Amino acid sequence: MEVIIKKDQSTASVYAARLLADVVKVKPHAVLGLATGSTPLGLYRELVRMHREEGLDFSRVTTFNLDEYVGVAPTHPVSYHRFMNENLFDHINVPSSQVHVPDGLAEDLPGHCRAYEEAIRNAGGIDIQVLGIGSDGHIAFNEPSSSLGSRTRTKMLTEETRKDNARFFDRLEDVPHHAITMGVGTILESARCLMLAFGGNKAGALAAAVEGPVTSMVPASALQLHPRVQVIADEPAAARLALKAYYQQALARREETGR
Ligand code: GLP
Repeated sequence: MEVIIKKDQSTASVYAARLLADVVKVKPHAVLGLATGSTPLGLYRELVRMHREEGLDFSRVTTFNLDEYVGVAPTHPVSYHRFMNENLFDHINVPSSQVHVPDGLAEDLPGHCRAYEEAIRNAGGIDIQVLGIGSDGHIAFNEPSSSLGSRTRTKMLTEETRKDNARFFDRLEDVPHHAITMGVGTILESARCLMLAFGGNKAGALAAAVEGPVTSMVPASALQLHPRVQVIADEPAAARLALKAYYQQALARREETGR
């Protein structure tokens, strides 16, 4: 894992946006895996800016989002689809036919999940997957104890996750109990992963994911098995990393010498 620690969220987001933009510049028909939550907001803002001011072209890009709440329509204010429209898709030139977000209203959920996996395969697989991390170490909605080989499926949310996400709803009772989520196995098949972690409330989960044992109790720790992961954290999220100084030296060296 390459751990990149930046002084604050906004510097880290701009750094992450550059990495993603480089993928799109090198491969205009890239397949991007995208995440929701407050973590990638700065990254999406910067991508929008690059599109507007620098002509970053998304016209040939295909996107797949990680997850969506079950029972929530794509137009509903809390839906992840609407979140993506409002924060990214409405402001760049990706055709909506190339955008994929799981459908929370799908009648045949297992069938929909299988079709989602197939669509990813048919698109040639995900070139780069953006990830946040839950305070309990989840990625997408793969809660602790999720199989590290899991595929896209419905998953029941933990109370911790429901409480963490309650800020987007009027009341805790309104937070759905289930979500459709790419599996850990699905995520591990992406060619590259970019995991972002910001704020002190992610410090414990990030340390467990990066430096703890690989365990289904911390689904993000499965990324240790992936050959190409970049973790971009701000200082507060990196606070509990035992090898923080080493990661910083390694980054400084890479920036200086290219190695
Ligand atoms: C949700 C999403 C995850 C996200 C996590 C953290 O549970 N399903 O993909 O990483 O929240 O959210 P935030 O970025 O708001 O801290």
